[in-house]
Amino acid sequence: MRALVLHKDGDDVRSVIEEVEESRLPEGDVLIDVAYSSLNYKDGLAVTNTGKIVRGEYPFVPGIDLAGTVVESDSPKWQVGDKVILTGWSTGEARWGGYAERARAKAEHLVRLPDGMSLKEAMLVGTAGLTAMLSVLAIEEMHVTPDRGPIVVTGASGGVGSTAVALLARAGYEVAASTGTASAHDYLKELGASQIVDRAELAEPTSNPLGKARWAGAVDSVGGSTLAHIIAETMRHGCIAACGLAGGHALDTTVFPFILRGVVLYGIDSNTAPSEKREAAWARLAEAVGDGAFAGVDETISLADVIPYSKKIVRGETRGRVIVDVRA
Ligand SMILES: NC(=O)c1ccc[n+]([C@@H]2O[C@H](COP(=O)([O-])OP(=O)(O)OC[C@H]3O[C@@H](n4cnc5c(N)ncnc54)[C@H](OP(=O)(O)O)[C@@H]3O)[C@@H](O)[C@H]2O)c1
Repeated sequence: MRALVLHKDGDDVRSVIEEVEESRLPEGDVLIDVAYSSLNYKDGLAVTNTGKIVRGEYPFVPGIDLAGTVVESDSPKWQVGDKVILTGWSTGEARWGGYAERARAKAEHLVRLPDGMSLKEAMLVGTAGLTAMLSVLAIEEMHVTPDRGPIVVTGASGGVGSTAVALLARAGYEVAASTGTASAHDYLKELGASQIVDRAELAEPTSNPLGKARWAGAVDSVGGSTLAHIIAETMRHGCIAACGLAGGHALDTTVFPFILRGVVLYGIDSNTAPSEKREAAWARLAEAVGDGAFAGVDETISLADVIPYSKKIVRGETRGRVIVDVRA
């Protein structure tokens, strides 16, 4: 099978497109013909050896998302010909990922491609879309309905943030998009944001543990002082889906918003989300794709293009979703 393989020589990592023996795939009961993968920021870091993403042994095949067709299965859950999606479970980090014509996975890690969605559309959604949808489902689960007030989305121009803006707007919420990217304002309004909040305003540490209640909920991909600020400004019984740390991992807050306003801080982990949650999220994502929620910017590249595009994504020079046609 053809694959993009990372080879480690001392501190250097080289990316090479080469033929690899299928027998080197990790253990698992399902063999998949991969049709599409995607390029995420994390993949860019892995390929350019910029961040400590790869935890598996080298040589290593990265690619955190993949979609394809089952060609062999030792599991009663999957039959030859089934169309499946694999995201999370350390795919492309500790287990070989989507940048190869074949992948082997554990049966319980796979999700069935929902009706009405193509394999390519599944990769248009990818981990970023799944994370955004799990965040929307968390807000809904906590009974934060659109009539309760605005939902703030931080890191709004990013992969998770921009998808959350589009999904929330389509679900009828008033969306405030918090961004530090001036050039993204029009794009975020096109996606459905009704107001833009300056990233710097929310990043400002707040001394008041119970500030003016502005938000019925939040999808926060920034963390740090931004998350602390939002917690202090969330309305009674509001829900904050905490899914990222683009601005920092520390959290300096108090218990007051939780015990005096009933604010819910809901952690989102798309990597190990249970199957029932994933399936519910993918079913809603199929509806959203059908409604055109993902009709933003996207580009399809070949496996060989992943190498130059990884440099671009790390430098912040790509926009929207990058889908990888692994057979091109
Ligand atoms: N929990 C999960 O399962 C899960 C899954 C996927 C990703 N994540 C995490 O979610 C976060 C977002 O992921 P992503 O794929 O959307 O990344 P991304 O495309 O790089 O977007 C991150 C966004 O955050 C904002 N940002 C960047 N640096 C910042 C800083 N120093 N301070 C404040 N804001 C900053 C930027 O948006 P603006 O320019 O619009 O402000 C940027 O576009 C990451 O921390 C990622 O690790 C978590």
